[in-house]
Amino acid sequence: MSTNPYESDRLLAEYLLFHYGSPAEILPVTAPAGMRDALDFAVRTTRHFSPGEVERSLDLGCAVGRSTYELSRHSRETIGIDFSQNFVRAAAALAAAPLAYRRLDEAHHHTDLDAKLPQGLPVGSVSFECGDAMDLRPDLGDFDRVHAANLLCRLPDPCRLLARLPHLVRPEGELVLATPCTWLGEFTPPANWPPHSTLEWLVENLGHHFELLDTGEEPFLIRETARKFQWTSSLLSVWKRKNA
Ligand SMILES: C[S@@+](CC[C@H](N)C(=O)[O-])C[C@H]1O[C@@H](n2cnc3c(N)ncnc32)[C@H](O)[C@@H]1O
Repeated sequence: MSTNPYESDRLLAEYLLFHYGSPAEILPVTAPAGMRDALDFAVRTTRHFSPGEVERSLDLGCAVGRSTYELSRHSRETIGIDFSQNFVRAAAALAAAPLAYRRLDEAHHHTDLDAKLPQGLPVGSVSFECGDAMDLRPDLGDFDRVHAANLLCRLPDPCRLLARLPHLVRPEGELVLATPCTWLGEFTPPANWPPHSTLEWLVENLGHHFELLDTGEEPFLIRETARKFQWTSSLLSVWKRKNA
């Protein structure tokens, strides 16, 4: 059995709900406004790219694929890559048909739900593949848009991805990173955590090749049970690849 939590059916169901659930499926009846504001994270992060149509987009750590499909609205070709085979299989299957899953409510109580793409998606060509963001295949090519949400602090050695990014993003292309900065020893050895603030560390590692266009916060909400939710704020940064 795999020890990767992202291969588990429990996290698969949590992420299908997180990416594709309706407000009524996710929120408790008593939800305060702040919980509602944290919905649709996988859609919101993709809206930080400049408007317009592009040729190629890449979603790293795509999980069950909602951001990948959203990127396809304005991209002729879109690739989603994730380390979890279970997530990648689900993301790809959604292009053909809704996917049934069981939302955990409590103990042995579940609710049967269907995850489905919004009508009309995908728009361009979309594909999903298993891959390691720290060791991407050399022939992946380069992209007009690269999106990596809540991935960096799940990598054992995030600097390996940061070093590859100048080669993945085309000159004048854009990069959107989101990270909740939840650095944990179980994913990233402390020696590989940012030595100071995550944003300063990103500027140190990316500043030579990228211009920092914007920063912000994007909250997100993951429902674990009917009464337990993770509310987290992700540090968002938007970068433009320099020409040189
Ligand atoms: C916290 S989830 C975020 C998923 C999605 N981007 C989102 O914002 O909902 C982290 C994702 O990164 C994936 N992941 C972890 N290590 C990875 C690696 N080395 N390469 C690619 N994906 C990885 C996990 O399988 C998981 O889907």
